[in-house]
Amino acid sequence: MAHLAINGGPKTVTRQLGKSWPIFDEKEEQALVEVVRSGKWWRGGFGDDPSASKVVQFEDAFAAYQHAKHGIAVTNGTQALECALKAAGVGPGDEVIVPALTFVATATAAALVNAIPVFADIDSATYNISPDSIKACITEHTRAIMPVHNGGYPADMDRIMEIAEKHDVMVIEDSAHAHGSEWKGRRVGAIGHMGGFSLQAGKTLTCGEGGIVLTDDDDLAEKAYSFHHIGRISGRPFYEFHRVASNLRMTEFQAAVALTQLSRLDEQTETRERNATHLARGLEEVDGVSAIDRDERVTRWGFYYWNFTYNQEEFDGVPRDKFLEALRAEGVPAGVGAHGAPIYQNPVFQHTDFSWLGRPVDFTKVHCPEAERVHAHAALSLTHRLFLGEQEDMDLILAAIRKIRANTDELK
Ligand SMILES: Cc1ncc(COP(=O)(O)O)c(C=O)c1O
Repeated sequence: MAHLAINGGPKTVTRQLGKSWPIFDEKEEQALVEVVRSGKWWRGGFGDDPSASKVVQFEDAFAAYQHAKHGIAVTNGTQALECALKAAGVGPGDEVIVPALTFVATATAAALVNAIPVFADIDSATYNISPDSIKACITEHTRAIMPVHNGGYPADMDRIMEIAEKHDVMVIEDSAHAHGSEWKGRRVGAIGHMGGFSLQAGKTLTCGEGGIVLTDDDDLAEKAYSFHHIGRISGRPFYEFHRVASNLRMTEFQAAVALTQLSRLDEQTETRERNATHLARGLEEVDGVSAIDRDERVTRWGFYYWNFTYNQEEFDGVPRDKFLEALRAEGVPAGVGAHGAPIYQNPVFQHTDFSWLGRPVDFTKVHCPEAERVHAHAALSLTHRLFLGEQEDMDLILAAIRKIRANTDELK
């Protein structure tokens, strides 16, 4: 008789794990009604009282939350990166070093400002950009490094800042997954020169769609503000424009929801971390599946995805994808990292004519062996909402993994 659910045996998990996402109640409703009734639906012109704007309140609150001096709220996380790149002066002829394993927007944001994305390989221990690979990618054209805190696990900001300083290049942290994450007690987003966050529906801080740029630098903040506001400069007449720029302004509706969601974030982050710690401990007893070996400099991990690792050899030779299929059949909705294959393998990088970037680029020749290996054989992930329930949910996930481990003969 089969034991594993994939072969018709009983399922380990027969109920929803964690919570549905997003979490909301009448507080979000009231915040929205308040904006509707106020008649103030946008951040306002220069003459308006900034403190009356939900967008400005959100910018200040989130910047303070991430230990940054300035926040500029925008329409989404992709635009946050584009806005930051423009403010940093990145443009035609420049190269931007990005990790191979990320969401496509990290790289396309560079191309959208007419710069060339250069793919660095990842560190297989953390799935984050490898500082050694960054070093190998530096050229005379490098203008910025854009590390992603993959799954919310902070990239090695010590080494990245050291490399950036040595080569005098900007660091723009793609923090789309990392609300509340900390590196040595400092929250991510403005450890580098600038950072961009996404507030899209699945993210741990959300208002459906939205984004925010953070920086400690007054000049970069002023430029990002201008680039998000059709080239206006604060203090100058409203109908005077200084830059070729788009309108990336967030609405008051988005900001009202984001502010309310922000008030929930600490408790949610603590619950996720507590549950993840329990899961990681339980995995210590399972050969072939392990948690990321947490660096002590990661003082807080506000994760969007909890990335963990599979080792086929240690798991009795069962291929990762077979294990994953079996785990899903047991009722655990696991994945292989936030966004699938190394992004240079996407049709956009394989088939687009990038001649407009000014120098010949051929992404079909890019090869990042660790990113490819991790994606194909080692990466496992669980989305953040699964960690918002009780410890019992972690025990169910562990029970499913242990059951598969005990019955690998059924997978051969
Ligand atoms: C790493 C990363 N960067 C940027 C973005 C873009 O954010 P948005 O979807 O808000 O445009 C995402 C979205 O998932 C992301 O995961």
